[in-house]
Amino acid sequence: MDIKTFGVVGAGQMGGGIAQVAAASGLDVIISDISEECVARGVAVIDKNLNRSVEKGRLDQGEARAILSRLNTTTDIADMAGADYVVEAAVEMEDLKFNIFRQLDEACPKQTILATNTSSIPIGRIAAQTGRPGKVIGMHFMNPVPVMKLVEVIRGLATSQETFDVTWQLCEKFNKVAAEASDFPGFIANRILMPMINEAIFCLYQSVGTAEDIDTVMKLGMNHPMGPLALADLIGLDTCLAIMETLYDGFKDSKYRPCPLLRKYVEAGWLGRKSGRGFYSY
Ligand code: CAA
Repeated sequence: MDIKTFGVVGAGQMGGGIAQVAAASGLDVIISDISEECVARGVAVIDKNLNRSVEKGRLDQGEARAILSRLNTTTDIADMAGADYVVEAAVEMEDLKFNIFRQLDEACPKQTILATNTSSIPIGRIAAQTGRPGKVIGMHFMNPVPVMKLVEVIRGLATSQETFDVTWQLCEKFNKVAAEASDFPGFIANRILMPMINEAIFCLYQSVGTAEDIDTVMKLGMNHPMGPLALADLIGLDTCLAIMETLYDGFKDSKYRPCPLLRKYVEAGWLGRKSGRGFYSY
């Protein structure tokens, strides 16, 4: 299956990053979001990233322009009908994703593969919203997408081998390394990462250490590139909470209960870097 046009639903930090790597790999990209403002913000971040690469001498000015010219924007999800492969990168809310998949299933030709960048929601549950479960798959990028090498690829129960192979080849085209995970809540990445972040939040909640000390321990003691609380701020505390809820609901195991402090921050609108305040101020 020859993929020429790649669709991305959602122009936020994940969707924008995915659109950037897809366009950089030479594909034409259609990126959609709910408003002109959201789309423009996503493209502005891509533009900024590309400019930084040009300034650092990693990218030619002409190539940066060519990447930007391969980006087409829309606020109408039905325009995804023009894509051969679509990845959904909306916020981590099950009902919202279900709704997007129902719309994509209606708009896109039957052969189009529909992938989700969900960080924890079972692929089978999303696939069941469509009439093409064999063509639905998880393609989970890491944040910041242009920098992180990994893509987790997750088959639902019905995902076809062809859908899997095309997705795997796309990861290679994007210069990423793919790892396969089975369709369990949180897959591999967030099954391991998020309980660690949640435990760091419990440490803060129980005054085991300050945010700075908790992050210093993990950075210098375990050689993590950033501490778990700074990483939670980067990911978004609402996303962290949503993933913990999915793990807790999915396994019914108390070890996945979200820390009350995480919930409190999210309820207060302290969502991390994107809102200017999380465990740190930005
Ligand atoms: N977009 C594009 N490029 C970015 C970027 C962004 N948002 N942030 C940083 N970069 C680039 C910089 O331009 C820089 O490039 P060069 O070295 O080529 O100049 C490079 O990344 C390093 O950046 P900095 O020097 O500013 O900072 P750093 O060395 O501290 O690295 C980091 C920043 C890459 C984010 C690093 O701290 C890191 O790897 N942190 C861990 C990130 C991580 O764990 N991500 C996974 C989150 S989990 C997830 O995404 C899954 C989920 O479902 C929740």
